[in-house]
Amino acid sequence: MIETRDVVKTHGKTTVLHAVSVQIPEQQLTAIIGPNGAGKSTLLSMVSRLAPMTAGTATVGGLDVANTASDALAKVMAILRQDNQSALRLTVRDLVGFGRFPHSKGRMTAEDVRHVDEALDFLQLNALADRYLDELSGGQRQRAYIAMVLCQDTPYILLDEPLNNLDMAHAASMMKLLRRMVQERGKTVVVVLHDINFASCYADHIIAMKDGHVAYEGGPLLVVRDEVLSALYGMDVTVHEIQGQRLCHYFA
Ligand SMILES: Nc1ncnc2c1ncn2[C@@H]1O[C@H](COP(=O)(O)OP(=O)(O)OP(=O)(O)O)[C@@H](O)[C@H]1O
Ligand SMILES: [Mg+2]
Repeated sequence: MIETRDVVKTHGKTTVLHAVSVQIPEQQLTAIIGPNGAGKSTLLSMVSRLAPMTAGTATVGGLDVANTASDALAKVMAILRQDNQSALRLTVRDLVGFGRFPHSKGRMTAEDVRHVDEALDFLQLNALADRYLDELSGGQRQRAYIAMVLCQDTPYILLDEPLNNLDMAHAASMMKLLRRMVQERGKTVVVVLHDINFASCYADHIIAMKDGHVAYEGGPLLVVRDEVLSALYGMDVTVHEIQGQRLCHYFA
């Protein structure tokens, strides 16, 4: 389980997370939704120690993130950041290989190479493996970063807006892949999503954030409802049930 207790984050005098306590269930797919600026990325960066929290605690698989050694943490949790910036004069294969660093410490074994090949395969990047990152389209590059994260083969996987830049076919195949990670490999996956319909159809659990608070939390049946989504986004949202799935309609 990933658990936060009363996690607070302030920037100067502004509080962007207000004592957030969540329990993210083990071996499930959890979606974090909410408007821009709600605190979704901030919460993920507290859990993954990309930034220090002002107060509170977070544990991942029982490890307190504040005082666990970085290499130990990197073996249990991998994160895709919202903004990936790295040297673009790297090939896709090299980037994905970096995902093995916590295991290989720079000396790749046959097992590490197997993980790299599998991640390239999962993300349909085989044909692009020897291309430099600056020779890829936005969606291809996004898939390369996700391959790097999956290649780390950690029990906990945090992905901040993994569907950015992906076309609808790649977005759907990404969500299916994440479900397989949960069902076949027992991973605990947390994804920040803006497309509520993907959250509705693929997530087991949804955390809806607004203004630095958890506004609603529960399964899609509980969260994907007209009144919940209309209040969350401050606009009229209508949820329709189509072939057993709740899909929302929000065009004026
Ligand atoms: N370094 C910073 N200094 C001051 N304020 C910050 C800083 N980083 C983030 N914030 C503020 O914290 C709040 C939460 O930001 P966060 O990035 O967590 O939002 P988000 O829910 O991920 O939004 P988005 O959907 O746009 O990615 C925002 O109001 C943002 O302006
Ligand atoms: Mg964000």
